[in-house]
Amino acid sequence: MMDYSTKDTTVCGSSTIVNHLPEIGLQKAVSEIVDGLLACPKRMSCKYFYDTEGSKLFNEITRLPEYYPARTEKEILRKLPLKNLIGSGDIDITELGSGNHAKITIILDRLSSEQLSHIRYLPVDISRSSLETSIRAITGRFPGLSIQGITADYYHQMHLIPGERKKLLCFLGSTIGNLDRDDAMSFVRNIAESMQPGDGFLIGFDRLKSAALLESAYNDRQGLTARFNKNILCVVNRLMQSDFDPEDFEHRAFYNPEQRRIEMHLEAKRAVHVKCPSMAIPLDLQKGETIHTENSHKFDVNDIQTVGEHAGLSLYRIFSDKNEWFSLAYYKKMS
Ligand code: SAH
Ligand code: AVI
Repeated sequence: MMDYSTKDTTVCGSSTIVNHLPEIGLQKAVSEIVDGLLACPKRMSCKYFYDTEGSKLFNEITRLPEYYPARTEKEILRKLPLKNLIGSGDIDITELGSGNHAKITIILDRLSSEQLSHIRYLPVDISRSSLETSIRAITGRFPGLSIQGITADYYHQMHLIPGERKKLLCFLGSTIGNLDRDDAMSFVRNIAESMQPGDGFLIGFDRLKSAALLESAYNDRQGLTARFNKNILCVVNRLMQSDFDPEDFEHRAFYNPEQRRIEMHLEAKRAVHVKCPSMAIPLDLQKGETIHTENSHKFDVNDIQTVGEHAGLSLYRIFSDKNEWFSLAYYKKMS
């Protein structure tokens, strides 16, 4: 669920989740969507994938045999030298786009109760339902852990992240790849400006690999990625009272070698007429016309170094699996 209307605090056991999306407001979200639909070619931001159904579908995708990024990153997380990343004093672990609790659980499971007593976990996600589910699970497993959930859009609301304590920021899953390359650089640089010397930033990067492997990860045989892609239309329908019919569209995902990214699109199977009260006139798509819903950029070591240099962060180490399909880069703010 993406709730732009009710500013409230949900209590999950001893933890709280504050919904900050109303500070952006439904009007702004709708006008962003309308801008995308009036653009040529039409587009929708991939942040609108993640209502309750979209977050559930994404979790199922992470368990697919074809979707190697999730299991590969988890394998790397299980071996990460946490002592260097977390240390022994008070620290905030802030996870951007936290989604499912699987990855943070791998980290927390490896810490002693003494270390856990110094940690405050701050998951930030646009999907409130996803935060509720994951915080409930984490609280059950680590009853004394201090957790503060933040429902927010990290493109617009990074100022909400508390800054007074030492920080380890985590941006896992190669969600950085969902931003355009220039936006990804500015995003990390903006965050780095608010970091203090000694703070760390752990970022997951999906690496360049054969187009065949990449394309199969986004065209799974069960059709879950297709359902995930089409679900964006249901989210948009709810936000702006439109009447897109997901059955009018075909899922398309392919590797674009010039941009070094997987692109996901929805292609109209027939001429489509969409009523949408937020737009002055109904929206018409011709048969074969597409809506661009997601980019998933892939990275090499040079890209990973450049992200750090651009942000003024020092690249401490890159941790990868043996095939170098996925990497976790740990950057540090030095001064
Ligand atoms: N980090 C998790 C989830 C990745 S899926 C993992 O590696 O498995 C991407 C997550 O980012 C989703 O939970 C989605 O709700 C969240 N997200 C996407 N765009 C966002 C935005 N603009 N602001 C905050 N969260 C966002
Ligand atoms: C969250 N993000 C990094 C995923 C990706 O691989 O780009 C989202 C996704 N899209 C299709 N499958 C998974």
